[in-house]
Amino acid sequence: MLSSWRTLRKSFSILRAVGKAAEHSKVIGGSRCFHRAVPMMSDKLFVHRDTPENNPDIPFEFNEKNHERAKVIMDNYPEGHKAAAVIPLLDLAQRQHGWLPISAMNYVADYLDMPRMRVYEVATFYTMYNREPVGKYHIQVCTTTPCQLRDSDMVVDVIRKKLGIQMGGTSKDGLFTLSSVECLGACVNAPMMQINDNYYEDLSNKDVEEILDDLIAGRNPKPGPRSGRFSCEPAGGLTTLTETPKGPGFGVRADL
Ligand code: FES
Repeated sequence: MLSSWRTLRKSFSILRAVGKAAEHSKVIGGSRCFHRAVPMMSDKLFVHRDTPENNPDIPFEFNEKNHERAKVIMDNYPEGHKAAAVIPLLDLAQRQHGWLPISAMNYVADYLDMPRMRVYEVATFYTMYNREPVGKYHIQVCTTTPCQLRDSDMVVDVIRKKLGIQMGGTSKDGLFTLSSVECLGACVNAPMMQINDNYYEDLSNKDVEEILDDLIAGRNPKPGPRSGRFSCEPAGGLTTLTETPKGPGFGVRADL
């Protein structure tokens, strides 16, 4: 009796803590709400529902060029292991169609002679596959911890305000889609975002505005760091390897 009373009390205190955390998240009103993001996203990430533009009857097959590309990709893998080409082939299908409908997944499964479910598993695991239509420019803002500490919330807010879209939304003119993604491997240049195949790094409020203005005007903004850094060298200048390299022969004993 006593132990069940204790269990009940413990459950109440856990519920109270969860309630307080939810309250707190509403108050701070950040761009990324930890308490609601996962349940909201899970349905979108894993479940397919037939729609007029995404169902197994939508015609899809590789065009001639992509047939050739697919053959070259598959030649990288030995006989009996062609299924290993599933990731690049799905990417090829997405580039051809603009996004990845279920009919393209089925086509890739048949192309590689593998079960369709295995292809669905891959396509739903990686966020690089867009299983819904996206705008001409797909903006993916990294909101993982290093970027968040460098104010990725600011990047998201500027985009939201300027384009009038919410996370996961597409602008009315079909030009932009905004997504939040996990680490894109450019943490040292945080905060950053990826637009189609390009990375834009070391972003300030003004940089994000400028990049969007360029795209709206049909210009091609220069990718890479916006801080003046060439790449990912220390922001305060070099601290090691500051001398001119002495060449390969330096330090070799003459008598050897
Ligand atoms: S945390 Fe943003 S790129 Fe790694």
